[in-house]
Amino acid sequence: MSQAEETKGNLKKKETAIVSLQREIAPGIFDLWVKTDLAGNAKAGQFISIYPKDKSTLLPRPISICEIDRMKQRIRLVYRVQGVGTMEFSRYQQGEEISILGNLGNGFPIDKTKGKKTLMIAGGIGIPPMLQAAKDTQGEVTFVVGYRDQNLFLLEDMKKYGTVFIATEDGSVGTHGNVMDAMKENEIKADLIFSCGPLPMLKAIKQFAQEEEIEAYLSLEEKMACGVGACLGCVCKTKKVDHHSHVHNTRICADGPVFDATEVEI
Ligand SMILES: Cc1cc2nc3c(=O)[nH]c(=O)nc-3n(C[C@H](O)[C@H](O)[C@H](O)COP(=O)(O)OP(=O)(O)OC[C@H]3O[C@@H](n4cnc5c(N)ncnc54)[C@H](O)[C@@H]3O)c2cc1C
Ligand code: FES
Repeated sequence: MSQAEETKGNLKKKETAIVSLQREIAPGIFDLWVKTDLAGNAKAGQFISIYPKDKSTLLPRPISICEIDRMKQRIRLVYRVQGVGTMEFSRYQQGEEISILGNLGNGFPIDKTKGKKTLMIAGGIGIPPMLQAAKDTQGEVTFVVGYRDQNLFLLEDMKKYGTVFIATEDGSVGTHGNVMDAMKENEIKADLIFSCGPLPMLKAIKQFAQEEEIEAYLSLEEKMACGVGACLGCVCKTKKVDHHSHVHNTRICADGPVFDATEVEI
């Protein structure tokens, strides 16, 4: 453990974590459990950054917290091999030491779920953060999840916490199409929406929530450099004036990644 920094009540630390389990759960999708003190304060919807060991890859890679085991001090990360950094992560072995920075970002407003029907809408690699959110939710949970094909990672995990509706791009399972098609086909209703996934999906959900007058929180993704709010590399437009940059911008890494859908322009 080395640096610690307190921002908005969040203690961020760069520390050494130990790989406790790593397996491929679908082609190119890896499930990595790491033992870390950060598990104690981690919240659903937050993320950590992993520093690749290869020094030619300078920047840490942000990965959402999928599940938290506070008793065993472990965090679960589920990621897709995208490029050089995540390819390196996929080779990590049990017992290996890795360098991580966390816990980053704000997380989902779990307190709002009490007594509500919460709809977790996610696509692809946006699905992992919904798992801990569903575990912590204090009401009924329905998942609507979109995959490319029949490789339905995390499905059995989600079924433990709610009803699951599936959409696949190739039509091999569930609704043929995207999550919005599955919502229509199954006439799904809710009081509250939590969502994470590709930008076109988040735009459609923002519009749906507005039309149906449902409170919605979207987890945004953007290429990140520092990951802690210092470089302004991850801004998006917002209704509020940012106290750091003094313009209608917000930093996804530090002020998000979860935003009230009515506050962000996407
Ligand atoms: C808040 C947040 C949470 C995320 N959670 C997950 C997750 O749970 N599972 C998962 O598979 N992926 C997640 N991602 C995407 C993940 O960070 C990228 O896939 C990863 O950084 C790619 O790194 P690479 O070296 O393999 O790819 P490269 O393409 O070689 O990366 C080159 C550079 O671009 C950045 N980059 C590339 N793609 C992205 C991206 N989509 N988002 C942010 N930076 C990117 C990398 O960090 C690196 O600095 C998340 C991204 C953000 C911002
Ligand atoms: S990545 Fe630097 S401010 Fe967000």
